[in-house]
Amino acid sequence: MLILGVESSCDETGIALYDTEAGLLAHALHSQIDMHAEYGGVVPELASRDHIRRVLPLTERVLAEANKALRDLDAIAYTQGPGLSGALLVGTSFAESLAFSLQIPTIHVHHLEGHLLAPLLEDNPPAFPFVALLVSGGHSQLMRVDGIGEYELLGDTLDDAAGEAFDKTAKLLGLGYPGGPALAKLAIQGKPRFKLPRPLLNSGDLNFSFSGLKTSVLTLTNQHQPLDEITRADIAWEFQEAVTEVLTTKCMAALRDTGLDSLIVSGGVGANSKLREKLNAATKRKLCNVSYPRLEFCTDNGAMIAFAGAMRFKALQLSGQHTTDKKNYSFSVKPRWDLAELLSP
Ligand code: KG4
Ligand code: ZN
Repeated sequence: MLILGVESSCDETGIALYDTEAGLLAHALHSQIDMHAEYGGVVPELASRDHIRRVLPLTERVLAEANKALRDLDAIAYTQGPGLSGALLVGTSFAESLAFSLQIPTIHVHHLEGHLLAPLLEDNPPAFPFVALLVSGGHSQLMRVDGIGEYELLGDTLDDAAGEAFDKTAKLLGLGYPGGPALAKLAIQGKPRFKLPRPLLNSGDLNFSFSGLKTSVLTLTNQHQPLDEITRADIAWEFQEAVTEVLTTKCMAALRDTGLDSLIVSGGVGANSKLREKLNAATKRKLCNVSYPRLEFCTDNGAMIAFAGAMRFKALQLSGQHTTDKKNYSFSVKPRWDLAELLSP
């Protein structure tokens, strides 16, 4: 079964080919970071227009790389949401019209399910069940995952997502967009000097809150004006320390509460090396396993969408629900789509 995956929910166009027997055959990505950088964040209209420019050449590239033709495709999986509506519409209309012309089915993928399953693309993937930490620009969630579509939400952020906190703090420190990688780079030169709060560290539940941390950073930067290079690095160090300590503590609590011994980490913040260092040490101490996607699959990409689509397709086929009847011209996007809609009751 050969699945084409299409991701266009935000500022990355990602296309991939996943074969249910042979695995990931090819993937290609175009990041719009350079284009949005001068505006300090994603400009939705520019994002949509750029997706239009990229989607066909990237598809041609992955087909050529995998030595496949359009007629070899069995289904097309695409991100239906959540994300920027204009950006989603590009991938959606491309995928739906191509599928219509080929008379093959489409699979509507939830972007977060793509992130959630991304670690399973690696060699020796973890077996179900496991705890998943999903930390992206829009989400910070802990989930119990028993199988495809069998998700139980264990904890969520009450305000800002972890990636959002990185991005906003980076802005306060005068760093560019996207803030997470820039802040992590600056933190390498920093030293323990300041003390920031660890929000909800001992709350007794698995929820997060990161907006207060950003306010504490604002107070700190106001107290040390004009900010010199060393102070900026020391603040970055402490901010990263605070966020990664909270994330690690809650992951370990989730493993303890569920009685599971396997953790997976996904989403853009999952690329953070301090977080990986802390999680590796903590899980080792408790004789648990931790798995991550390769760095390029932590942030948005087409491979995770092709893979999630393939898993859903297989599950539907097994349950006999799948239809190849493609007579429907209509399609829609879901800019707001709660993962809870996919969760088990
Ligand atoms: O998963 P993603 O690519 O997009 C969303 O679906 O949101 O995540 C992007 C987020 C951004 O907030 C970015 O600053 C953050 O992930 N990020 C990082 C790192 N790399 C990306 N945060 C901390 N450290 C990193 N190395
Ligand atoms: Zn994402």
